[in-house]
Formats: sequence, structure tokens, C-alpha cells
Amino acid sequence: MLKTLALPLLHISEQAAIASFPWIGSGDKNAADGAATTVMRDGLNQLPIDARVVIGEGELDEAPMLHINELLGQGGLPVDIAVDPIEGTVLTVNNQSNALTTLALAPRGALLHAPDMYMEKLAVGPKGKDAVDINWSIETNLLNLSQALGKDVRELNVAIQHRERHESLVNRMRTLGAKVQLFDEGDVTYALATAMEHTGIDLFIGTGGAPEGVVAAVGLKCLGGKMQGKLKPISDEEVQRCLMMGLTDPNMTLEHEDLVKSDDCLFVGTGITDSILMQGVKLDRQSGFETESLLLSGQDQYSRLIKAYSPAHTECVTTASFS
Ligand code: FBP
Repeated sequence: MLKTLALPLLHISEQAAIASFPWIGSGDKNAADGAATTVMRDGLNQLPIDARVVIGEGELDEAPMLHINELLGQGGLPVDIAVDPIEGTVLTVNNQSNALTTLALAPRGALLHAPDMYMEKLAVGPKGKDAVDINWSIETNLLNLSQALGKDVRELNVAIQHRERHESLVNRMRTLGAKVQLFDEGDVTYALATAMEHTGIDLFIGTGGAPEGVVAAVGLKCLGGKMQGKLKPISDEEVQRCLMMGLTDPNMTLEHEDLVKSDDCLFVGTGITDSILMQGVKLDRQSGFETESLLLSGQDQYSRLIKAYSPAHTECVTTASFS
């Protein structure tokens, strides 16, 4: 059972966020990624797991990464790992909100080996699960969702990345009167937010990184929400990569079960900069680092927001306790 790994993973995530702290606002993407990645690799290598990285850092941006198929751990539980040590590297080095560490675990074979290409995505919280589908029009989805949530369409808040490729979708949603919340980077946050009512986000849609899609799918599984995806290969080479993954149709709909096959999964993310989910790393010269992390477990569907205090340069002490 993966739950026994929750606290060690939390600790690794907190330390990775703290390691990236000096690089906030620095403009140095590689240094920030490198700092968080080193901490994650070292931490994961100490755990009693037989882990294989199935989602690593983007191959495309040549960041210092945890490589796909890299093996980690001391041996033990066979698991798959999906990791983006910094989700929102640009946000981090420009000191903008919404950067976080992300780490997701599932039993060996349970995570989609999503290549680093684009994926069309849809995410919604538990109450909207049966009301929306990635293959339906945005108009149908919004009308159905408004009924399922008991809200007027004009009260619906849809998060979508601020990109030219989404212009027509944004216009159609606005024509229906829905509120569109545009964000610059970091779609894991907004996908997870759909399953946390206090954020006010009802639906997340749009095309972004496939790896981030799998990471978010683990989190949403733990939160009882729904995630669907469709890979968007843009070259022959990317089509070949989809075929090699065993997808007969590269554009097929990937249901939540295709993205994450098991309920026994864990997600942990720690804020680097402030976001709608949690606050970023704070440093107090007297008391040291303060972090906020989201720890989600699929097996018992618990979610915890954990504030932790870590004296600078010493081991992190968390306030969390687990049954
Ligand atoms: P990183 O995790 O590599 O920093 O990516 C940030 C991100 O905004 C993702 O959340 C999103 O899926 C992807 O980039 C979108 O990519 P693009 O900038 O090409 O639209």
C-alpha cells in the first residue's frame, strides 16, 4: 500500500521547494530545475521502493531532468513515478505566482507513459463528473455542468491557459456568458482546483503538456474528480511515439482509467510561489522556511494541506500526522 510513503514523499517535496527558493526571480531556469531535481532524485533514491520514472521533466526544453525510465530507490515496492520537480519553471524564475513542485506515485504499470508532447485536457470536480466529456462541444459541457452544479452558466468559472490556440474556445465560452479565467503557466494547479470548491474553478479545459496531464490525473483521482485527455502529436515523429506507446489511434480519448489505472496512488505538491491552492515558500530569518503542501491519497481519498516549518539548513519538521 502506497500510503506508507506519504510522509517521506511530503518531506522530499518540501525540500525540493526549499531548494528552488534561492532561484525565485533569478531568471535562471536550469539552476532552478537542477536544484529541485537533485533533491527529488536524492530523496527518492533513499526510499524502500523499486521506482521507475515514467513521466520525467520535459525532454523538449533540455532541462536537467529526472529521465524517463530512470530507476530510483533502494528496492522494495514496485512503483511508477510521474514527476515535474518544478511545474512552472518560468513562473519561478520570474517570481510570478502559481509555481509548485509535483510528484505522483502509483503501482508499477498504472501510469500512462505520456510522451512530452501536447495533450488536450478536461478536468472537473466530483459533482460534474457525469456532466462533461472531452468529446462534447463546449456549449453542451457548460450547459450540462451548470445543471449538475445548480449554477447559472454565467456563474461558471472555467480555467484555460492564455494561449492563441485557445482563442476560439474562449470566445465561445464568453458568448454563452461563462466566466473565463485565463492563466499564464501551470495547468496542474487549475486542473486540481476544479475538485476544490473553495477555489471557485468549475472546469479546466485546453491543450498543454501531456506529462502535466498525467500528474494532474493522479491528483484528481485522489480528489474524486475526473480527467480526460487526447494526445496532440504535431509531427510524424510524435505520431510514431504514440504508436510505440501502444496507442492504435494517437488521437484516441484517454479516459481517467487510461491515465491512471489504480486508485492506490499518491500526489504531493509544495508551493514554490503563491497560488490558489497554497502559499509559496516563505523565509523568516528567525524561524527558517515555511512551506505549504498538498498531500493527496487515492486509496482512502484523503486530502491534506500541510504547513511545515524547517529551520534553514536543517531537517524539515512537519506538523502533519497520519493514521
Ligand atoms: P513546466 O512544468 O515545464 O514549467 O511547464 C509549464 C506549463 O505551463 C504547463 O503547465 C503546461 O502544460 C505547459 O507549460 C504548456 O506549454 P506551452 O507553454 O507550450 O503552452
